[in-house]
Amino acid sequence: MQIKDSSNTYCIIGDPIQHSLSPAMQNAAFKAAGLNSSYLAFRVKKGELGESIGSLRATGVSGFNITVPHKVEAMKYLDEFDSSASKADAVNTVHNVSGILKAYNTDIYGFIHPLHLRNVNFIGIKVLLIGAGGAARAILAALEAERGISEVNIANRTQGKARALLEMSRTRQLNCNMITWDEISKYSRKAELIVNATTIGMGNEPGLLDYQDINKDAIVYDIVYRPVNTEFLENAKYAGADVVYGYEMLLYQGAKSFEIWTGIPAPIYAMKKALLGTIGEPS
Ligand code: ATR
Repeated sequence: MQIKDSSNTYCIIGDPIQHSLSPAMQNAAFKAAGLNSSYLAFRVKKGELGESIGSLRATGVSGFNITVPHKVEAMKYLDEFDSSASKADAVNTVHNVSGILKAYNTDIYGFIHPLHLRNVNFIGIKVLLIGAGGAARAILAALEAERGISEVNIANRTQGKARALLEMSRTRQLNCNMITWDEISKYSRKAELIVNATTIGMGNEPGLLDYQDINKDAIVYDIVYRPVNTEFLENAKYAGADVVYGYEMLLYQGAKSFEIWTGIPAPIYAMKKALLGTIGEPS
């Protein structure tokens, strides 16, 4: 393969970061596209974000991804905002354009594209969104672009954050309501789309919902991608529901970031192979 005349450096910042699959996925993409670029991961703790972005700026990094827990706070330290970033009020991708750090939110596309691939009809559906962090913001922005959703019920462990998300949603064209953590199973039984936008499932926490609380006609979406088969998705499959794996959102947000940085179509197959080569195929 021809190596093009480009040697750019990219990275991801977050905490925890040691299990991030973005370096494997993006380095595979650069290789497949014949680009002489590289992608690293840096652990950046809360409280060190401003200094870290300042350092990246000073080194002339070509671009970077931002993950948990910095997707909202990072906006303070960036220069320009694409409409995707403004819509979500959270960012996950930065492109360094001649010293100007321009921010995007590719989680919006990453979340919705797997649903579009499945030809999901959003008209009249009830959505249960569990979580109210940076990822939930992007998910709400993605759902806003789909016409006809009947209602979005939002539950979060910390009610104040769910309330803040709800405040943001008042300017949106979605009928959003806040529910309590204890009401999740009541709402999940009626929901046609259930989304886990929390980190529950990455550790040893019990699954979010029992299979009896999941409708067999529902689509159940977990943004957690490691393990690939979370207990939440296992329970959903047992209930007879369709599932969307967390790696799918990871793949398409990463593909969009790649395209923003390079201006060329993302080599999806190589990226997916790198991801599933690490976490295993879904069963
Ligand atoms: P991200 O940017 O990926 O969304 P985040 O902003 O740190 O990350 O949000 C993480 C989400 O997971 C939040 O909704 C968080 O709930 P709180 O707002 O109450 O912190 C949720 N979360 C993480 N661990 C949780 C747990 N053990 N139980 C319930 N919710 C949890």
